[in-house]
Amino acid sequence: MPVPWWRQTVVYQIYPRSFRDANGDGIGDLDGILEKLPYLADLGVGAIWFSPFYDSPQRDVGYDIRDYRSIAPEYGDLAKAERLIDEVHRHGMKVVMDMVMNHTSDQHPWFVESRSSRDNPKRDWYVWRDGRKPGGKAPPNNWNAMIGGSGWHHDARTDQWYWTQFLPFQPDLNYRNPAVRAEMLDTVRFWLDRGVDGFRLDIVNALFEDAEFRDNPFAWKLIPSDDDPRMLFQGSDRTLNHPDTLEFMKELRAVIDAYPGDRFLVGEVNAPIEKARAHCCDGKGLNLVFLFRSLKARLDPATIRRLVSEYDGMFPDPLLPTWVFGNHDRARRISRLGGDVAKAKLNAAWQLTARGVPFLYYGEEIGMVQVPIPARDSQDALVQNLAWVPQFVFDAIRSWMGESINRDECRTPMQWDATANAGFCPEGVRPWLPTPGDKDGRTVADQAGDPGSLLSCYRRFLHARRDHPALGRGDLRMIEAAETGEPVVGWRRSADGETVAVLLNATGRSRKVRNPAPGGSLIVSTDVDRKDAGDAELVLAPWEGLVIGAS
Ligand code: NOJ
Repeated sequence: MPVPWWRQTVVYQIYPRSFRDANGDGIGDLDGILEKLPYLADLGVGAIWFSPFYDSPQRDVGYDIRDYRSIAPEYGDLAKAERLIDEVHRHGMKVVMDMVMNHTSDQHPWFVESRSSRDNPKRDWYVWRDGRKPGGKAPPNNWNAMIGGSGWHHDARTDQWYWTQFLPFQPDLNYRNPAVRAEMLDTVRFWLDRGVDGFRLDIVNALFEDAEFRDNPFAWKLIPSDDDPRMLFQGSDRTLNHPDTLEFMKELRAVIDAYPGDRFLVGEVNAPIEKARAHCCDGKGLNLVFLFRSLKARLDPATIRRLVSEYDGMFPDPLLPTWVFGNHDRARRISRLGGDVAKAKLNAAWQLTARGVPFLYYGEEIGMVQVPIPARDSQDALVQNLAWVPQFVFDAIRSWMGESINRDECRTPMQWDATANAGFCPEGVRPWLPTPGDKDGRTVADQAGDPGSLLSCYRRFLHARRDHPALGRGDLRMIEAAETGEPVVGWRRSADGETVAVLLNATGRSRKVRNPAPGGSLIVSTDVDRKDAGDAELVLAPWEGLVIGAS
């Protein structure tokens, strides 16, 4: 049986507002993306995930949808989106749309109707509930939103509360209402009919809540971690990862499986790894779930070895892990690595050679860093929601958690060249978020022609992965330390009779190792000067990662 395309692809995430502004209003748009498709095709990615570009008041940059079937006018229109889908295909890539099924904008006509009266036919499309006392004095129960604080919001007109898992203007749809389920499955079909190849599902483990609205239990947890959103001493048993959500994952899967061409689903499931995996329903639910432990993982041999073995062991066929080092919510990986390009190259080698589906975040390939933006200038609703918090508290959180909670800092415009607006929008126009004054060579124009650049390194690994089935879809066996000599970490990948050996020197010193594939040929290295890799002993440069053809 041929291997589905998504099992051997690399997905590149575009944040449409920040990728390329073709009409000069300071905001990225679909024409801008169309312009840059040749760049992405040449880079060698297999699929593009678009953060939402549907019609939206943009209070959460499109994650607050007002109409699932039309396009925000500042980005384009439906005809343009259809053209984009076709053009991505013509360039040999696939399209992954972002589906925000858990909630809508509070300006969605459904919610406007729903909140208008208790007996409106759309009332039950959202999660409404009486408070424990009338008059907005006590919410229905203790449920906290994922972002902390009660997720219940009192609506004075009808003296009831509506539930939000995220921000107050993102009311949760009521998945216990069959009409809602049917409508959302139809929305998915609407885009499948237009040729979309897959969906990234936003906070999809939040669709169903406890039917009896029982309190969440107490938990010894103050702040959320990468894979566990419990916070403020509260568990999330009643509000996340509900068994009915898992059942719905199977329904969704049946919808996409009814279409030809191996469409797929990847879920954003903020949960401990076993609970996240449960959403794959033993191969009958989501095809993939994002795994977020890698975001903050240290770049050292022990950590890489542990994470690669753990992910591989926990996601045996037909499951498959994902490799995520950044996205529009989290600090850019290279900033966590001290801005060090050599480390970023090794990180790319890790991400693009391990078993699983890599998700790249735009700008990662040129080493774009976090751009510091003070909280008072932030356009991020999460930060605005905390407007009463003084800047020094944000600064303290930044140094304590090792990253800013201001998501603007990782969402700045793509740096195409070194001009003031980075080639994102015309000079003289103010981009929606600033670009750094000194781009420090972190631009496409600076790196494209330089074989030693980070961009060229990504391109080489992406092409190697595409050209070698063992790298693209092979199984994985760790190379034990005894075989090479510590502390180099490595693994073998095999498919279709091809075996390759990967070696990563995740240290700042050169290392002499026994070659696990003596006589093998060099497939790719982070070090552009390496010419071969067949000797019985190899000296790996600091932070070098390489792949050797073993048979
Ligand atoms: C997760 C998305 O990644 C984030 O950007 C968004 O704010 C929330 N879900 C709410 O949709």
